[in-house]
Amino acid sequence: MGYDFERTMNYRQGRRGGRTTWTLACCLTIFLGLLLLFQPTALLPSPFHFKHGVAPPLPVYHDEPPRVLRTRPASLKPFCVGPRGYRIDDPETQDLPYPTYNLSGIDYPEPTYGSYTELGLEQSWMTFSQRYHPYGYRENEDSYPLSKAEWSSVNWGRLQDQCLDSSPDSFTAQADAPPRFRFMGDGDLQLNRTELKSTGRQAIVLRTWSTYKYTDEDLWNVRALITEAALATKGQYTVFLLVDFKHETGSFIHENDALYHEAIRDAVPEEFRDIAVLFHSSLQVSWYEKVNEVRPIWQIMQPLQLFAYFYPEFDQYWQLEMDARFTSNAGKMLQAFDQFGAKVPYKQSRERASWTYIPAVHGTYQEFSEAINATMEGKATVWGPVPIHEVPNPIGYVPNMDATDDNFKLGAGEPADLLMLSPLFEVKRFKKYEDWVFKDWVLGFTTSVPRFLSAPAQARASRRLLHAIHESQHEIGIRVPSEATLPSWALWHGLKVVQLPHPNFQWPTRSIRELNMIHNGGKLDRFKDGIANGAAPYMKSIIEFYERPRTWEWQSSLVDPVFNHWIEGDKPKTPAAADAPDNETGYETVEDSSDELLHKIGDSDKPLHEIEDHSSTDRFTANGKGSASPQPQKRGRPAALGDVPPELPSFMAEVDGQVFCPGLLIHPRKTNQNP
Ligand SMILES: *[C@@H]1O[C@H](CO)[C@@H](O)[C@H](O)[C@H]1NC(C)=O
Ligand SMILES: *[C@@H]1O[C@H](CO)[C@@H](O)[C@H](O)[C@H]1NC(C)=O
Ligand SMILES: *[C@@H]1O[C@H](CO)[C@@H](O)[C@H](O)[C@H]1NC(C)=O
Ligand SMILES: *[C@@H]1O[C@H](CO)[C@@H](O)[C@H](O)[C@H]1NC(C)=O
Repeated sequence: MGYDFERTMNYRQGRRGGRTTWTLACCLTIFLGLLLLFQPTALLPSPFHFKHGVAPPLPVYHDEPPRVLRTRPASLKPFCVGPRGYRIDDPETQDLPYPTYNLSGIDYPEPTYGSYTELGLEQSWMTFSQRYHPYGYRENEDSYPLSKAEWSSVNWGRLQDQCLDSSPDSFTAQADAPPRFRFMGDGDLQLNRTELKSTGRQAIVLRTWSTYKYTDEDLWNVRALITEAALATKGQYTVFLLVDFKHETGSFIHENDALYHEAIRDAVPEEFRDIAVLFHSSLQVSWYEKVNEVRPIWQIMQPLQLFAYFYPEFDQYWQLEMDARFTSNAGKMLQAFDQFGAKVPYKQSRERASWTYIPAVHGTYQEFSEAINATMEGKATVWGPVPIHEVPNPIGYVPNMDATDDNFKLGAGEPADLLMLSPLFEVKRFKKYEDWVFKDWVLGFTTSVPRFLSAPAQARASRRLLHAIHESQHEIGIRVPSEATLPSWALWHGLKVVQLPHPNFQWPTRSIRELNMIHNGGKLDRFKDGIANGAAPYMKSIIEFYERPRTWEWQSSLVDPVFNHWIEGDKPKTPAAADAPDNETGYETVEDSSDELLHKIGDSDKPLHEIEDHSSTDRFTANGKGSASPQPQKRGRPAALGDVPPELPSFMAEVDGQVFCPGLLIHPRKTNQNP
């Protein structure tokens, strides 16, 4: 493939090899590994039959054709083919969703946190049908407006391969590709990793496991992600399922290719088999023996680190969980994330990342950034690597000038090495175990080493960041918890870390002023070091209920209700169903004993550590009665998650009996827990 490597002008080249990083939260385990030689698999001829005039009627809400995404790395073909066998850039494609851009008289909702305009996100709506019709939702009904795709004969690996140019040195094919993971010592890729150049390509790694039960909604979700992020971007992204092989003695998959492929057949729906990469925890043990921990709750990034090591043809690696959902075009959203991350400068990226950006309080992102700079008087808390003994050769920015002399030029226009979906916290600020249960968990150094975290453990990390973590863990075995891995290594190495201000709705919402107080600790000029210091991050155990529920969190009581409204609002209405009493058994709601403390925090101008915490150390159980909260609800969830009233959330819209959702990245959607 045509590599176009050095755009890393301001970077100091580190030692060779890689380290990796990052987050998750599920259930995996073990490790070992080696590599096979890549066998460049010849790309298959692309059999498109570009038929005109036979397309079934287009979806109902169609006031603008899907815009095909633009950026196309040089190694890619000018177009890709979708699952129905047609070019995906056909203006009448049935493979992409057609959103509604203008919902009669309804203003597009303003998120509690983050911003559509600042991120450059499309402001569109979709019904559940609009969202998932192209991917098979209700395809067996007479009213299905599209031609049915033959999912059983769709091979997503082959479709993604067809986006690639078939240059002979390509080792990137997915279809019929031999497994690359190998135990340490069993061979390597014969790659000189210091010579890897930029490819313009990004991997999306979906974390799953071999016993995962794929619901219909999971199928629609994965099909949507591949079609929108990989095919419609002309291959800028490539989707993989990184599958934890849940088998006590499953190390054989890394020694026997036939058994590996057999295990994939059992673990993954047929259409996704060629995009699946299977690993066994013995692979982690093999490579990270010195780390002496492979369980996902502690070391969820290890498999991604190994993935980046064995699949180094990508500049960036997204790690997403199966319960994340894009409620609109995933490719457009990821491209907007990418562009935002590149646009913002390196200086004060660590400070900005600590704040929960609330447009109603902070103004535009520019105003937000300028206010932080004003507090900092042009300086930066982090300027170059945060030095630690264990990272002697940082790979990131080592500026040769003072921060005050850089007028936000350094790093502006360069890809971010870490894109986070939640704020960046500093571990040493946690006072109590209950506020972050992993707070003292380290190996290989003392707890005085500066560490940083962002949860949940879904993020995008650059290849060089993942390689750097890999190298540290492999060679010296140091470790921090899953959620701290990517941010800590990124800052130790002097890399640009960016928190994406992606739209995140709290609902029912509370007083914005109080939310700003608990997330950020006050106004942007409150702290001389420019770093937010709110109770929500650092006194989580007593304040958690107050920031919830929201559409993006590591736990959320809101996400399933959003989906239930969205799906229900898409069904033909029958009077009986509409009038039926709500018969769902909820969780108990508990009396709220927290208002007093909350208001103390919300109204206080005192620094966080001066606010006395009279609560018990256990999680608060509260029914969500804050000053701006709604009345107690008849059904709820475990109280710390926040109760969700039965009404349609205010950021969704109902028109003529149909329910529309704005474009969001949502988590967690618990399909796998539903009956
Ligand atoms: C939305 O529709 C209204 C009424 O038809 C129209 O005035 C407005 O220009 C439309 N806006 C967009 C962005 O198309
Ligand atoms: C890898 O590439 C770097 C930079 O080109 C070079 O200095 C180094 O010697 C190479 N290593 C090997 C093992 O070829
Ligand atoms: C940042 O702050 C410095 C010092 O107050 C000031 O000179 C500079 O103009 C500011 N830059 C921006 C972009 O606000
Ligand atoms: C509630 O659900 C139960 C079990 O499905 C059913 O037996 C009962 O009749 C329902 N009650 C109402 C009021 O719908």
